[in-house]
Amino acid sequence: MIDMHSHILPAIDDGSRDPEMTLEMLEESYRQGITDIVATPHFYINNDNTESFLEKRNNAYDIIKGKISGRDDVPNIYLGAEVYFFNGISRYDGLDKLCINNSKYMLLEMPFKKWSNKVLTEVENIIFDRKIIPIIAHIERYLDLQHGTDNINNLFSLEVIIQANASYVNYMFSRKKALKWIDNNIIQLMGSDAHNMDSRAPNLGKAYDIIKKKLGDGAVTRINGLGKEILSI
Ligand SMILES: [Fe+2]
Repeated sequence: MIDMHSHILPAIDDGSRDPEMTLEMLEESYRQGITDIVATPHFYINNDNTESFLEKRNNAYDIIKGKISGRDDVPNIYLGAEVYFFNGISRYDGLDKLCINNSKYMLLEMPFKKWSNKVLTEVENIIFDRKIIPIIAHIERYLDLQHGTDNINNLFSLEVIIQANASYVNYMFSRKKALKWIDNNIIQLMGSDAHNMDSRAPNLGKAYDIIKKKLGDGAVTRINGLGKEILSI
């Protein structure tokens, strides 16, 4: 099973603190049935540019690659980024290199405030001008903020892929809505968004179990099928 969103690489963002924590997170993910995990460190244009980000990310990955080589009890790791929206993002040169595993899919974190039309136009331009398909990170975290607007429906009408975090399914109070959206194929990808081993630990195995139990194997197969397509595996 695939985890499309995680902060497992060490000392690059507010995720894993060091290589030891990364190994624990990988081992725990594998125990939960995760065979493939996408490392998506935060990318903030105010702090970074693509070149310096990739250098840091690849160095962090090399350290971990050395530690897990030959091991078959940890997931395969793929590289990406969680790109935080910024004005002008659709014209930013370095965007293609932030896509997941050299694909045309990019994990996009939307602004945590009410979106203006300009925001949605930028997303549209990423698709039409750059031919990049945004994967909208943790959709559940924007819903309250867009309440009373058509923003969420307008976003859904674009050629984007919607990702939700495992916690959306795992939490009893949001489970019903999460499962409904998975069943309707609105939520198409799942991620742990794991940052550490305590407050935001790997938890996607539980979510996949719930999805399987409530919606059947087909739903899990569909989510992982799209993940495999994106990763070309
Ligand atoms: Fe994240």
